[in-house]
Amino acid sequence: MAERVFSATAVACSNIAFIKYWGNRQDRLRLPANGSISMNLAGLETRTQVRFVPGAARDRLVIDGQEVEGEGLRRVTAFLDIVRAWAGCEWRAEVISRNTFPSGVGIASSASAFAALALAASRALGLSLSERELSRLARRGSGSACRSVPGGFVEWQMGSGDSDSFAFSLAPADHWALADCIALISTQHKEVGSTEGHRLAWSSPLQEARVADAPRRLEQCRRAILARDFQALAQVAELDSDLMHAVMMTSAPPLLYWQPATVAVMHQVRAWRRQGWPVFYTIDAGPNVHVICPQEIHAQVQAGLRAVEGVRDVLLAFPGGAARWVESGDEDG
Ligand code: PMV
Repeated sequence: MAERVFSATAVACSNIAFIKYWGNRQDRLRLPANGSISMNLAGLETRTQVRFVPGAARDRLVIDGQEVEGEGLRRVTAFLDIVRAWAGCEWRAEVISRNTFPSGVGIASSASAFAALALAASRALGLSLSERELSRLARRGSGSACRSVPGGFVEWQMGSGDSDSFAFSLAPADHWALADCIALISTQHKEVGSTEGHRLAWSSPLQEARVADAPRRLEQCRRAILARDFQALAQVAELDSDLMHAVMMTSAPPLLYWQPATVAVMHQVRAWRRQGWPVFYTIDAGPNVHVICPQEIHAQVQAGLRAVEGVRDVLLAFPGGAARWVESGDEDG
């Protein structure tokens, strides 16, 4: 065990999955129904300071300057309980977190948040965890967070249980100069979150077929990434996203995350591809569309996306590195 410093700060990137995680085979440990593959997103980051405070009665959570109570705080406390049990420490903590991406626009922050929290909390309590152990720990907070621990292009192997369900790097961030142009689409609806969505997945008659075919898609995706074969990646990633949304739309109750502008962007991306542009889309549990392309055409893709009616803004991210410790500054909470 390393020295306990009781306070540590970490930064982690968000990630976008090319092969999606949707549905658990065990909910409590977040053991996924299938493996998944993603790319870390540099610049879309969460920076989190954790400070264990002797004598504090409860944990405290501040995200982007706002005190968080209720379900958000309960989820963080349950996660910190795991770290406290591993470290043999009962002190409550103050967690101060900031996202570099705009909040409330439907960009998932749980991946970067739990990766940064896993790193900061374990470091503060003197646990020197390997990348695998950190990834396993982050998984307990949010499944996709385990993929934000290693750098670059990452695979989460489903594993046979808790001990071997972790993520590892397939290739570093500089392996392939891809860009993610994220079309932000307005939504008035409060969406069903992914924790609930994973439970609903099994009520769709399509989930078993999606899961059964996952090893084939994973293999295609792995090969496409290693060979930097854009066309092959486009084909398998778009198929995989569509399969996940087919499961969402056919679960009980059904989840329909797409807005009219989501569909407009999907059509636009396919029209561009017919014109020879290397682009594909992938969509998470929300209306925003991640449009992936080689970095050299990101400006034209961004401009094109801005022209689609209903697209409010376009964020840009390149492949990102691993979760990392940083010097603690004066975090404002
Ligand atoms: O990590 P969670 O529970 O937020 O689930 C993530 C689910 C998707 O973003 C829709 C897919 C994925 O693999 O990231």
